Amino acid sequence: MDGTDLPFSKEEYFDRQSSFLENISENSLVLIPTNSLSTRSNDTHYRFRANSYILYLSGWADPDSVWMAFNDQGKWFSSLFVQPRDTKAEIWEGKRVGVEGALSNWPIDRAYSIEDLVEIVSSKLQSKNSVYSIPGLNEKLDNCVSGFVDEILDPRQILDKMRRIKSSNEIEIMKKSAKLASLAHIEAMKHTYSGIGEWEIQSKIEGYFIKNQSECSYPSIVGGGENATILHYKTNRSVIDSGQLVLVDAGCEIHGYASDITRTWPVNGKFTDAQKEIYQLVLKAELAGIEACKVGSSWDSIHAATSEVLAQGLINLGILECSLEEAIGDPPEFNGEYRKFFMHGTGHFLGLDVHDVGGGRQGDKEKGPTLEEGMVLTIEPGLYFGGWRSDIQIPERYSGIGIRIEDDVLVTEEGPIILSSSCPKTIEEIESIVGIGV
Ligand code: GLY
Ligand code: MN
Ligand code: MN
Repeated sequence: MDGTDLPFSKEEYFDRQSSFLENISENSLVLIPTNSLSTRSNDTHYRFRANSYILYLSGWADPDSVWMAFNDQGKWFSSLFVQPRDTKAEIWEGKRVGVEGALSNWPIDRAYSIEDLVEIVSSKLQSKNSVYSIPGLNEKLDNCVSGFVDEILDPRQILDKMRRIKSSNEIEIMKKSAKLASLAHIEAMKHTYSGIGEWEIQSKIEGYFIKNQSECSYPSIVGGGENATILHYKTNRSVIDSGQLVLVDAGCEIHGYASDITRTWPVNGKFTDAQKEIYQLVLKAELAGIEACKVGSSWDSIHAATSEVLAQGLINLGILECSLEEAIGDPPEFNGEYRKFFMHGTGHFLGLDVHDVGGGRQGDKEKGPTLEEGMVLTIEPGLYFGGWRSDIQIPERYSGIGIRIEDDVLVTEEGPIILSSSCPKTIEEIESIVGIGV
């Protein structure tokens, strides 16, 4: 990282900082730390991924750093504490940007060594009467701040509201992220065959991300057969037999911006009649959910759109033997009988976090905001018939089927735009592509 690959202009970052700081009183100190390295085992670490708030405000992507804003005589100063240059450490871990590099190339007015964090923050706090920070990321900072104030104010409510509306430049990156993940799914479909290991499909998807200088935005779910009925399955170690479906939920990150796509396909390239019945129903629900992603729509209305299709479809297939009202249940929870087979929300915001900040998830108790132009969210209904379940009797015809279809959707005044539209999802498209690269 040297600053030349920052995804946005300095002006865009400074604009974000100003919009944020307009909400903060001049008597406050603002401290946004990033996370440290996490231990994987003994003295090895997980690959570092910066905290999304510091990325959003400054593009700073290295560990052990803090973004700080302080006001002096009516002017806000944006600054970063960073790891200083240190030849011995750099021999092992790679070159650092250092204090001077940060000041030259990042959207800030001041830069300091992280080694001076406590001293400088303490001196600034002498003359401030409130502090905004995100606790739990930097212990030294937390201890220092709590020595001065009883209450630490949370900057996230302000930042979350900002982050949920994407700028045109953020949207361009999110389009690339969704396109890359779509192409990775196509690559995996092409190379699928009967008897393939879940891990082989995972390697096609993730290899494609790496080849294109990207990485996963969350652990890939590759569930063959009944494994598809486990919502957060990520063991990815089973062989998938002819006649079974595979559910692949995998997305990547570009400059920190996530895509999140799910497709489900038959490993032998041909859906059975029973699989087709469930697939068409989930697809119909997904299209209804996308159609409902309009400016002014409530999250509940989107969840209602997918729920009505699924509940009615389950009745039509004879899987539910009750009235539509009983099948759906009452809004806003919609906890009717159909929830036995569709247990998660219809979608979530998408951005620098895969489950992005800024509001509740459809179908959950927490209310989401009304949709506005520039929001990006997923629509991802599914139906899961786990024959292994002891809580309900699964109809034999559908036992073992798990299907989810998930797209990334941008809300605009002209209607929803599907960022992941290059990923095939009709039965005809999928059947024509599975296995052609084997
Ligand atoms: N991949 C996680 C989700 O779809 O929410
Ligand atoms: Mn997903
Ligand atoms: Mn999702």
